[in-house]
Amino acid sequence: MSRSVVILGTQWGDEGKGKIVDLLAHDADAVVRFQGGHNAGHTLVVDGKKTVLHLIPSGILTQRARCLIGNGVVVAPAALIKEIDGLEQHDIEVRSRLGLSGACPVILSCHEALDQARERAKGKKAIGTTGRGIGPVYEDKASRHGIRLADLTDPKRLADKLGGVLDYHNFLLQHYYQADPLDVAEVSDQAAMLGEQLKPMLCDVTADLHALRAQGKALLFEGAQGSLLDIDHGTYPFVTSSNTTIGGVMTGAGVSPQDIDYVLGITKAYTTRVGAGPFPTELDDDYGHRMAERGVEFGATTGRPRRCGWIDAVALRRMVKINGITGLCITKLDVLDGFDQVKVCVDYDGIDHFPLGAEEWADARPVYETIPGWQGNTRGMTDADALPAGARAYLERLEELVEAPVHMLSTGPEREAGVIFQHPYASA
Ligand code: IMP
Repeated sequence: MSRSVVILGTQWGDEGKGKIVDLLAHDADAVVRFQGGHNAGHTLVVDGKKTVLHLIPSGILTQRARCLIGNGVVVAPAALIKEIDGLEQHDIEVRSRLGLSGACPVILSCHEALDQARERAKGKKAIGTTGRGIGPVYEDKASRHGIRLADLTDPKRLADKLGGVLDYHNFLLQHYYQADPLDVAEVSDQAAMLGEQLKPMLCDVTADLHALRAQGKALLFEGAQGSLLDIDHGTYPFVTSSNTTIGGVMTGAGVSPQDIDYVLGITKAYTTRVGAGPFPTELDDDYGHRMAERGVEFGATTGRPRRCGWIDAVALRRMVKINGITGLCITKLDVLDGFDQVKVCVDYDGIDHFPLGAEEWADARPVYETIPGWQGNTRGMTDADALPAGARAYLERLEELVEAPVHMLSTGPEREAGVIFQHPYASA
């Protein structure tokens, strides 16, 4: 029986991971974030009430699972406290259930300012980031002058480190980007004050995970963004700054490959993308507009409209292999209900290998296979036998093309809307 399940997005994010994490978290003793930051936006609908989480693992709504934020996650203290307070106002206990790694890089106002100044300076070449400071804070981590959560709890250490970092960032802001510098004392005081509030939640996340694993407890690792936004394997440079693929679990939480029993790939029945960058199957026609409208395709973090297109089996097959996907969960199938036809990209014309970087992705022209659409309503469906034959044929063709079995279907935002063919925690 699987005790440790990883949930990853297999496209460009927004596949509907939050809902599935919330669902599986009922079987989990701990839910763990391991990469990304508050650029993520996980939308959950429980008892008709919508909650959007950005940093806190979606398992928090179960009222039971321990929630852990591993060292690979970049943490904006003010945003985290706001999220904690918001949940606690709705009687969801957070502080006693949340553990934070002291090694998490800290996002400060200078990182946000730099992210936004850089995007402005890029003009038409902008990546379309969430503007949350994600890139600059991962840069600081790699430059080895970053501030980590544990630093916030030691005023002397904080003052020493922050002075140098802010000098550097202010120089960039003022002289390279012609933007306003930040007040060093103000940023320091705020960081120290927020550090005090977060201090009781700091813990050795890695050691906790090893202990839970040794006790046979069920773990759930919650990926943010999607595999095609991976800094190494995605559509570089139009990517995020972390490893959103499977390797991020190991480096971002401190567990080994042997600590993972099952990898669930969340895949939307079509494709969406927010921000700029390559998207071979993107549509600007009635089909695409219908996907956007019926799928309510707006970014959970920024509210930006998402670009829409057909499913891309070429990219998906690659991501299935990279991540070692055990089973897929197909989401939002109902958005395609009533389409006269659906298309699947089965090959790229113009390029004879998997594209490397945005320039090569621009050459990839989709070759489609057309599948007849289906009538009938899959929205909210919980009974696999009621699935229209056409929808079943679509799923079966996808399984063949991407070389992974469909283990789950999500048929609506509500926790109960879906079909489980094989439960991740019940797999051998
Ligand atoms: P950043 O992560 O804010 O640096 O943004 C880099 C790229 O990743 C942009 O195209 C964003 O739109 C995209 N991105 C970041 N987080 C998410 C997410 O949670 N869902 C979808 N796209 C995201």
